[in-house]
Amino acid sequence: MPQHVIAIDQGTTSTRAIVFDASAQPVATALREHAQLFPRAGRVEHDPIEIWANTQEVVDEALRSAGLAAADVAAVGVTDQRETAIVWGRRTGLPIHNALAWQDTRTQPRVDRLIARHGVTAFAATTGLLLATYFSAAKIAWILDNVEGAREAAAAGDLLFGTPDTWLVWNLAGGVDGGIHVTDVTNASRTLLMDLRTLDWAPELLEVWDIPCAMRPEIRSSSEVVGEVRRPAALAGVPIAGILGDQQAAAFGQTAFEAGESKNTYGTGNFLLVNTGADIVRSKAGLLTTVAYRLGNDAARYAVEGSIAVTGSLVQWLRDNLGIIRTSAEVEELAASVADNGDAYLVPAFSGLFAPYWRPEARGALVGLTCYVTKGHLARAVLESTAFQSRDVIEAVVADAGRELDLLRVDGGMTRDALLMQFQADILGIPVVRPKIVETTALGVAYAAGLAVGVWGSLDELRAHWQEDVRFEPRMSADERSRRYRQWKKAVATSIDWVD
Ligand code: G3P
Repeated sequence: MPQHVIAIDQGTTSTRAIVFDASAQPVATALREHAQLFPRAGRVEHDPIEIWANTQEVVDEALRSAGLAAADVAAVGVTDQRETAIVWGRRTGLPIHNALAWQDTRTQPRVDRLIARHGVTAFAATTGLLLATYFSAAKIAWILDNVEGAREAAAAGDLLFGTPDTWLVWNLAGGVDGGIHVTDVTNASRTLLMDLRTLDWAPELLEVWDIPCAMRPEIRSSSEVVGEVRRPAALAGVPIAGILGDQQAAAFGQTAFEAGESKNTYGTGNFLLVNTGADIVRSKAGLLTTVAYRLGNDAARYAVEGSIAVTGSLVQWLRDNLGIIRTSAEVEELAASVADNGDAYLVPAFSGLFAPYWRPEARGALVGLTCYVTKGHLARAVLESTAFQSRDVIEAVVADAGRELDLLRVDGGMTRDALLMQFQADILGIPVVRPKIVETTALGVAYAAGLAVGVWGSLDELRAHWQEDVRFEPRMSADERSRRYRQWKKAVATSIDWVD
């Protein structure tokens, strides 16, 4: 029996394919970045055709560099950036508009009208989510309203919607010839259209957004065979056996299977998930409720989530918009050239502020500047903003749970930055633990796919793979920690007060 699993990780800025062997070790990786399209302030788009082309290339490249053929691969898993909405033709297989990315805020006016009428928590009991531009529903509705002929085509049953997982599975399975239009419970739980209790689409919400039923994908579990690959040819015949939203995949890869287990992923944004088991827990402190995973016909597991929109993408902004660094990796070196932030604080509220504030009107703020501040201090303020924002969501977790966290398990690309991880431990006052494999997103969906086809037999077997790499112990004094966090909160208040 084939013993490798390939994970496709379709993230906000890039698409990756990682091949894992049966001991959960990555044996080959390939990555392609895709263009970030900013047609106007507040608008963020991706080209779904480019993403599909990149997916085929990274799959081919990863298999080639691992020296493997389709016959060696037991399953493919697909994980994705979540919420980002794509609408395409059922018969053409072609998108009718670029994907509207999760950070896109063009739908704010419509969301504001709904908030005015129903309140921001109107759909929270059903979906676990607040009314915000972040989720897919408003984006799908915008495409239908703004592409000529889209409403008529949708009414005639000619259009489909999906998040990137749905788009890729549809294409992997042969597109119009395959006709596999599915998503999983975790991705569906981010659309603002799924009922968390029934794990099915909520007809009243499809109606609120005026999205025809015929457009919706079928909701499947996170770990089951949904079809088989037809293209790229190098992977033909391999079962597509796992689908997870990337944050849920990271939690699964960290083996946070049980209630109380958590992880914080450092990617384009940061996303802290705390597993709540079979219970649907409602946050009072600004966290979302979401599906953590569902394996086959087992009961779903839920989580609360603290979503932060801008963390790693702030480093890219420093590189691309300000030109202060040439590569993202240089930020650590620059930050290490100074002893502290020089009292400068940067709140990257570029898409407003997500959890726990949920203030769409907030805008980025750089405060505390003096003649003393250099680009080194700025680099530090950039990195520290990630740690401060993570503390904000952890404060919400603690407020909801009524007890402190013992430690924080972290993953994602930015966790390779030791200076950031040390500061994270310092500003939280608890140890920060990084596992040996930090690409837990890909690993998590490989696990989900591998479980479905018998590469792995149980969650306990997966747990045994988890290995600690580094533990960062807090070193900052309690007084200094409080002083800095107070300053940060003042900077946040400035960013919220900024707009009239
Ligand atoms: O909710 C958006 C999130 O899933 C994006 O993750 O890793 O692409 O920044 P990432």
